[in-house]
Amino acid sequence: MISTLAISGYRSLRDLLLPLDRLNIVTGANGSGKSSLYRALRLLGDAALNSVVSSLAKEGGLASTLWAGPETIARAVRQGEYRVEGTVGGRPACLKLGFGGSTYGYSIELGYPPPPATAFSLDPAIKRECIWHGKVYRRASALVERRNNLVTLPSRRDEEPVCLTKALNAADSMLASIADPQRAPEMLEVREVIRGWRFYDGFRTDMSSPVRTPQIGTFTPVLKNDGTDLPAALQTILEVGDEEALHRTIDDAFPGSRIHIEVQTGRFEVLLRQHGLLRPLSAAELSDGTLRFLLWSAALLTPRPAELMVLNEPETSLHPDLLPALARLIASASERSQIIVVSHAQSLIEALQQLQGCRRLQLVKSFGETTLEGATIFDKPNGSGHPVESTLLQSRCFRQSRRFATCRTLFPPMPFLANSVSFGSVEERHGVTCCPAGLIAEPKLDMPHIACRVPIRGHWAESPSFKSLLDPQAEPR
Ligand SMILES: Nc1ncnc2c1ncn2[C@@H]1O[C@H](COP(=O)(O)OP(=O)(O)OP(=O)(O)O)[C@@H](O)[C@H]1O
Ligand SMILES: [Mg+2]
Repeated sequence: MISTLAISGYRSLRDLLLPLDRLNIVTGANGSGKSSLYRALRLLGDAALNSVVSSLAKEGGLASTLWAGPETIARAVRQGEYRVEGTVGGRPACLKLGFGGSTYGYSIELGYPPPPATAFSLDPAIKRECIWHGKVYRRASALVERRNNLVTLPSRRDEEPVCLTKALNAADSMLASIADPQRAPEMLEVREVIRGWRFYDGFRTDMSSPVRTPQIGTFTPVLKNDGTDLPAALQTILEVGDEEALHRTIDDAFPGSRIHIEVQTGRFEVLLRQHGLLRPLSAAELSDGTLRFLLWSAALLTPRPAELMVLNEPETSLHPDLLPALARLIASASERSQIIVVSHAQSLIEALQQLQGCRRLQLVKSFGETTLEGATIFDKPNGSGHPVESTLLQSRCFRQSRRFATCRTLFPPMPFLANSVSFGSVEERHGVTCCPAGLIAEPKLDMPHIACRVPIRGHWAESPSFKSLLDPQAEPR
């Protein structure tokens, strides 16, 4: 299961870090960045299919997808004293995507290709990739690392790093290109997991949609993204999946209705018998909403559940009365897969929110940048632009004890001190660096974990000992 998702430099997602649960609802106003998040996740999934470079080129290349605002937004600008203006860029422009999971983490960084310029000017280059073990990147937990064309297994103690290849093309991801079950078995595992991710976004149900016509059917445990193999997917559920759940779901949404798949000379057609009618109706005769609900049923009741399913605005063209049934369908799917639902249908959000283990992620836009409502500065990736080691540089996870919160660098070890500078004016107290927001930091450059303690409710903590920095429960002296 993915526990943290980090995106940096993709459209309005300038530096976004999302904590994830089993079931997650992403909501927000129009233009807050929900679809950008969905697309960024798809790009991450494309890395395993080796199509991340072409997908990005189709979106207009890095120049179009990179954050269009200034590199830094000064406090005076945020307070309205100065208008937003471009700043001199210090960091090379790049797009970073990554996740930390219960077993493995993976991140990828794309940037502009080095000169000489070619005709493929929209193609970004893959600069950095990394797979590590566990939720948090640590140098010691890195399993495979890529820097430009070089892919290595990190060295242990005084051993030399093992080189897997020195000539990986800048357009090829290491996940898709290297298969070495002896030396890097985790690479195959991460690749297969990411390849299994499913993305469903607005099925076509207009009158000329292929979903409405009989289709050649083959065994289909996974519905395609466009839903064109709906009859075969439903028949597969009826034969090898949870037939009872499918009938129950349809009856839940359309009381008294029952699905049947008609097969004639290899062509499969969906028929829905409805209460009060003398004959079943074919897909061509069903309403848009009914057909969409059947598509969601086929996607979510799949007999081969994915590790992750991302659903973009599943409420589209469904009447609010159907949304509780859709919520129940999503809830049952979340027992088998991790689910991210992007939605702004209030009744769907409310129905899902009542479920245990459901996390609501409210996106808001501030100065053109998408942020997570309720996230603190400590959840936010740092933008200070250090030449830090990792691909996914600046993410942190956030733990709260009763009075104190502890900030951990999630992915790489990094000099923490520079972080505090971006939080406001910094001053020295008892040899520790403090800032008015209540941050007390004790920089330990070689410590990957704990970098600071944060007093809640504006208390100033005394200079904490290094031991107390390591123990999040310890009270300050
Ligand atoms: N390169 C870029 N840099 C900064 N912002 C961008 C960039 N490209 C697009 N945006 C902005 O990102 C925002 C997010 O768009 P997105 O389509 O993700 O919104 P949404 O939450 O899905 O909205 P809706 O509910 O209307 O579908 C838009 O307001 C758009 O102006
Ligand atoms: Mg959208």
